[in-house]
Amino acid sequence: MVTPSRIARRNNIARTRKKIIEKQPCSLVIFGATGHLTATKLLPALFHLENAGRLAKNMTITAFARREWSLAQWQQHVSEALKDLVNEKTSTPQQKKLFAQFLNRFRYHQGSFDDLSAYQRLANDIHCESACVHTVFYLAIKPTVFATVIKNLALAKLNQPCGVSRIVVEKPFGEDLKSARMLNKLLHQSFQEEQIYRIDHFLGKEMVQNLFVFRFANTMIESLWNRNYIDHVQITVAESMGIENRADYYDQTGALRDMVQNHLIQLLAVIAMEPPASWDADALRDEKVKVLRSIRAIPKNAVNQFAVRGQYATGRVEGNKSIGYLQEKDVPKDSTTETFAAIKFYIDNWRWSGVPFYLRTGKKLAKQTSFIAICFKQPPQQLFHETPLESICPNWMMLSIQPEKSMNIEIHAKQPGLGMETHVIKMDANFLNNNEHGLDAYHTLLLDVIEADRSLFIRFDEVEMAWQVIDPILRHWKIKNASNPMPTYRSGSWGPKETNQLLVNNNHTWRNE
Ligand SMILES: NC(=O)c1ccc[n+]([C@@H]2O[C@H](COP(=O)([O-])OP(=O)(O)OC[C@H]3O[C@@H](n4cnc5c(N)ncnc54)[C@H](OP(=O)(O)O)[C@@H]3O)[C@@H](O)[C@H]2O)c1
Repeated sequence: MVTPSRIARRNNIARTRKKIIEKQPCSLVIFGATGHLTATKLLPALFHLENAGRLAKNMTITAFARREWSLAQWQQHVSEALKDLVNEKTSTPQQKKLFAQFLNRFRYHQGSFDDLSAYQRLANDIHCESACVHTVFYLAIKPTVFATVIKNLALAKLNQPCGVSRIVVEKPFGEDLKSARMLNKLLHQSFQEEQIYRIDHFLGKEMVQNLFVFRFANTMIESLWNRNYIDHVQITVAESMGIENRADYYDQTGALRDMVQNHLIQLLAVIAMEPPASWDADALRDEKVKVLRSIRAIPKNAVNQFAVRGQYATGRVEGNKSIGYLQEKDVPKDSTTETFAAIKFYIDNWRWSGVPFYLRTGKKLAKQTSFIAICFKQPPQQLFHETPLESICPNWMMLSIQPEKSMNIEIHAKQPGLGMETHVIKMDANFLNNNEHGLDAYHTLLLDVIEADRSLFIRFDEVEMAWQVIDPILRHWKIKNASNPMPTYRSGSWGPKETNQLLVNNNHTWRNE
């Protein structure tokens, strides 16, 4: 449940090191422990929770990995991954002690995903750690191996009993509607729904959680939040980096599956949903599903009018020379994977009828930034004759998700002086004070899994609806690949020029800041 008090509580975690809270001990097992996600997100998040005193005293963390490493080698790997957070030279004795306590939680379990005996040994080890009441299995692994790991967990009876073991599944959940249903069926053969945590880390972001509060705790905002006042909505998740040596994953996935089907569609649902009846996890998710059900299906023969794709070519990103996607290591020279996608959606319901929602995301774009831009309608009549009509721009509300976490409203005010002329002023509100650091989404979400709170995790009907919206585009692009060249865009730009066409008919333009 996301309540203001809960968000405040989480912020406190960042600031205050509380006393260790005695909780039911939990055993966390990470599959894919030597991978990128574990090193860059999970380990820092766990250490942060350690620092905040949020891990129960006898909680253990098991790294399941295939490398023939000793525990000492694994601990060395953890130290290396956290070297920016814990510095041997500058740390105080107290910080060193805390880090030693953190390293002590780890177990290293060597095994391959397809080796059942490794799971049986794991089951044995977990049962021997009699203090651990709950076990969380975190699948920080490629979707291609989900099925193997899920089946072996069940064969080793690590899925039992319900309420004791939980499983966290990373995105993408399937590669289309059909495969997502198959994966869900497979999960349900071994785990009950309340054991399954489908993660979309965007929902753990501070600003995204703030959207709930912002919308539903402020009458002033909520009363404007509909088609009578809002002209259109833009959601941008732009990355300045490329695929970072992850060609084997990215080339099979592309921007639509990697970002739009999950993160951007979730943002759209949070912006467009009705107020839930209560802050119960299912009430919240019911409302998101209603929005997804109301998204107008994109007709097969008109996909081009609603969706644009592109692949980055050479260019300069933030001043540095940059290679194109096809020159990236391990990317096939004839790859037709899109690294950019932009889509126009309509939500056919009472609140949003006729309001376009534009979504775009891409790699090697001009800036690393994620924001929601809400454009309000023009006033019905232009009163201020001294100001040429065409210079009156609409009011905008900008909600920055990352790197800044801020809200900015652009409104008209009188220009100082004798005439009745107007100019635009900006009202800025940062959600964090200068000395505050927001939590990373994984801090929040890992704590939620440990505490068995599923509100910020995705229910399967949300996944299903999102695939239903995306599938026709995927199919159309697949067919198109055979006959059409892939549009490209210069690295460091805002995407292919065709992207502007999505907005032109409605007389709109992209906001790039
Ligand atoms: N990386 C991110 O920032 C990020 C962000 C959001 C979501 N995700 C999602 O998180 C998941 C993992 O991504 P990642 O980037 O961490 O992948 P990754 O770096 O390729 O890590 C995969 C891990 O799986 C292990 N592995 C593969 N096959 C194995 C086998 N047969 N037996 C035992 N271990 C095996 C690898 O071990 P070896 O090291 O021994 O090969 C490695 O530890 C993906 O679903 C991805 O979509 C990633």
